[in-house]
Amino acid sequence: MVMEHIDEITEVFYPRMFDHNSEMLFYFNEANQRNHMQQKAIARAVMVWAKHLHEPDKFKGLLDVISHRHVALYVTQDLYSIIYDNFMHSMTQVLGGNFTSDMVTAWSDAFIWLCKMCIENEAALAKAYEKRQGGWAGERKFKLVGKRKIAETTIQFDFSPVDLLPWHQNAEDGGIYFDPGQYLTIRIPGTGLSPRHYTVTSLPGQNVLQCVSRLVPNGAVSSYMHEEFLIGDRCLLTVPCGLFTPYPKSDMVMISAGIGITPMYAFLNTVERKYIKGILHFDQSAERMAFRDAIEGATDLDTKIIFTGDERFAEQKDIETETNVLAIRAGIDADYYVCGPLPFMDVVKKTLQSHGIKNVFCHHFGTGTEPMCPFRR
Ligand SMILES: Cc1cc2nc3c(=O)[nH]c(=O)nc-3n(C[C@H](O)[C@H](O)[C@H](O)COP(=O)(O)OP(=O)(O)OC[C@H]3O[C@@H](n4cnc5c(N)ncnc54)[C@H](O)[C@@H]3O)c2cc1C
Ligand code: HEM
Repeated sequence: MVMEHIDEITEVFYPRMFDHNSEMLFYFNEANQRNHMQQKAIARAVMVWAKHLHEPDKFKGLLDVISHRHVALYVTQDLYSIIYDNFMHSMTQVLGGNFTSDMVTAWSDAFIWLCKMCIENEAALAKAYEKRQGGWAGERKFKLVGKRKIAETTIQFDFSPVDLLPWHQNAEDGGIYFDPGQYLTIRIPGTGLSPRHYTVTSLPGQNVLQCVSRLVPNGAVSSYMHEEFLIGDRCLLTVPCGLFTPYPKSDMVMISAGIGITPMYAFLNTVERKYIKGILHFDQSAERMAFRDAIEGATDLDTKIIFTGDERFAEQKDIETETNVLAIRAGIDADYYVCGPLPFMDVVKKTLQSHGIKNVFCHHFGTGTEPMCPFRR
């Protein structure tokens, strides 16, 4: 019965939680409330969990997705009781008298177990990333040391840790290590804005973390970063996280659109050339495309860039045609990494699957994307 009403429950849950526990607004992105992605994400997680209650190993893939996101957002153990209380209240409110005391007990036990699994997995991940070379725990102070326009409405930002010891500034052991494709998470103190994620575009091992932000119309954080964030300003970053990273020693193909180029740029700079079987990118115009020089300059690789014309998105048939051509050339055994708007990724994924390609990894710059992201073989 809970499953039948899960969407109603999650729609009640968030407003209730923000009413009773306004401290949670510190973490959640309002835009993902408005587009209902947060509601769908937690609803799906609870459903998958309930389905695999007796075989928790099957929940591991989704658990890892959640944990990377929570560690990136510096979600701490004490916050779980807030989620638990509000979720149980929301179930009672929606289901009313049908939510019998036996059901309350069963769901309470199951939800506590789910919270414990998340807490343990997140603690282990946070510890591992703290110990990773150049790693840290929680939110660390950085300052903006570089800001440069690299394409229309697209700016590159360089961050350096404020606490970097002078003898580490150019030394190898001052470097920050992470997996290519992972994202940093930025919180700008004093703005009241919740954190946002940006793919790290600098190389692992450097003592500066770099990202590239595309200005989103009326977007709170990107507007602030583009218009008000100045060299020397402070921000808080958590350690790079994320599962959209290349499998070692495997043939790979990259297909992206718009600002979805950022993880592909990270791959291009780190993956051995012999494994890169193709790069396909769609953008509105040459002026708007980030990292155009790097992609065009990779003349030893099979690359193709399609410009769709200002203000236009790629047509479905063009996406299908180009994806088909690349799939035939690169073959069905390669791993296909896809990043761009959801409708774009949907077309690419279906086209690749029509060739019998199994390893299609989609990365959405939003929340609640797990159904599209197998991330594991
Ligand atoms: C893993 C990951 C990696 C990412 N990497 C990159 C990257 O490398 N580069 C990059 O540019 N971006 C990246 N993003 C996206 C980035 O994190 C931000 O989502 C993006 O910059 C927009 O944030 P914003 O604060 O400017 O916009 P938001 O304030 O989040 O708004 C987004 C949209 O929602 C609308 N909106 C907001 N609030 C409301 C409301 N109350 N009612 C109606 N509409 C509303 C806004 O008008 C806007 O159009 C990544 C995201 C993820 C999850
Ligand atoms: C059992 C409890 C919880 C479950 C099942 C859960 C589930 C999820 C899922 C599935 C996502 C989307 C992940 C992704 O797509 O990358 C997510 C994101 C998120 N979670 Fe949780 N979560 C739980 C507890 C918490 C707690 C305690 C917090 C505390 C603040 C929290 C804060 C967030 C935030 C801020 C996001 C990102 C949402 C956004 O900005 O769009 N979650 N969670």
